[in-house]
Amino acid sequence: MNIQSLKNLFRGIYGQHDTEPVVFFAPGRVNLIGEHTDYNGGFVLPCALTFGTYLLIRKNNGKVIRMASSNFDYSAEISLTSVQDKRPGKWYNYPLGVINQLIERGLKPEGMDLLFSGNIPNSAGLSSSASIEMVTAKALVDMFGLDVDLLEMIKLAKKAENEFIGVNCGIMDMFAVGAGKKNQALFLNCDTLDYELIPLELGDYKIVIANTNKSRGLADSKYNERVAECSAAVRQLSKHKKITQLGELTYQEFVDLSHHIPEITVRKRAKHVISENQRVLDAVTALKKGNLALFGKLMNASHNSLRHDYEVTGNELDVMVEEARQCEGVLGARMTGAGFGGCAVALVKADAVEKFISRVGERYQEKTGLQPLFYVSEAGDGVRKIG
Ligand code: GLA
Repeated sequence: MNIQSLKNLFRGIYGQHDTEPVVFFAPGRVNLIGEHTDYNGGFVLPCALTFGTYLLIRKNNGKVIRMASSNFDYSAEISLTSVQDKRPGKWYNYPLGVINQLIERGLKPEGMDLLFSGNIPNSAGLSSSASIEMVTAKALVDMFGLDVDLLEMIKLAKKAENEFIGVNCGIMDMFAVGAGKKNQALFLNCDTLDYELIPLELGDYKIVIANTNKSRGLADSKYNERVAECSAAVRQLSKHKKITQLGELTYQEFVDLSHHIPEITVRKRAKHVISENQRVLDAVTALKKGNLALFGKLMNASHNSLRHDYEVTGNELDVMVEEARQCEGVLGARMTGAGFGGCAVALVKADAVEKFISRVGERYQEKTGLQPLFYVSEAGDGVRKIG
């Protein structure tokens, strides 16, 4: 991304001014393993990406917050007296939700101009929304000298998404976007929020992200439905063992208790969460030992569980993953993110990547009629000020 041309665009939209806008950046994220475990107090293993969202920001001495995005050709002017109002369906609800959270932590909003510019594909499940939220939080905390540290920013960004957007997401995305580090995966305990950065030493292998280009449609309502099903499982199980989250159970404990969940669907949802939790622990051990073959197998098992037990994959993701697994040099492939469309992630031998992209791309398009996109991804650094 060329920062100078973004600054020119900023001046074109908001006019020339003595002070230059300040530039911030927050990445997207890809989750390597540990899906739909975060809101169950479980483990996850994502990493931050090198692409993400830039935010240019400057005070305007007026009584409005002006927002624009280089990704969409519409902008917004929000009077300081109406920042609390949600604007259903509008992209700028993401920054607005964060601004509202910061007001609760002492921010006295002033007139300011914001320009967002992202290179994360929208609706691809690579956390473009957490990236917008975290870049907004970082920029405002810095600009207004608020006493809010990174962990608090992560928590308030999640709250903004839960309360302002209405998606009952967990904390993984904001955490990865906030605390991710170059060439490292982030092993997070979503209950205690303790985390460990694990060197992503992939040797001859690359992480390839495959975008199905299937729009995620009803994803948010389906997501909230899964969150509710997990709560239902906890309600049933807690009559027999004192738990408040599924993440507290080992797989064996779940096997012994699962007959107490009468609805088969709810039982399957819990089975996915608890087995996925164990897979994350196993994947971390495999990564530390450099056992990438085992890591790949765990990725495959994760997808199968998300497909059959959690039922969040759908035809496009299943086709993508099946085609990926049939390619030479692939150790494993799975969907990443919330599911219902979006992206898959695969561990592919470096010298087989080119063939992988052309072959999987061709077969996927043949079977679904959709044109996929591929990104060979590196783990990048978390949210930061650029200058
Ligand atoms: C979305 C949510 C995350 C997480 C994943 C599934 O990305 O925002 O909190 O639940 O789905 O693992």
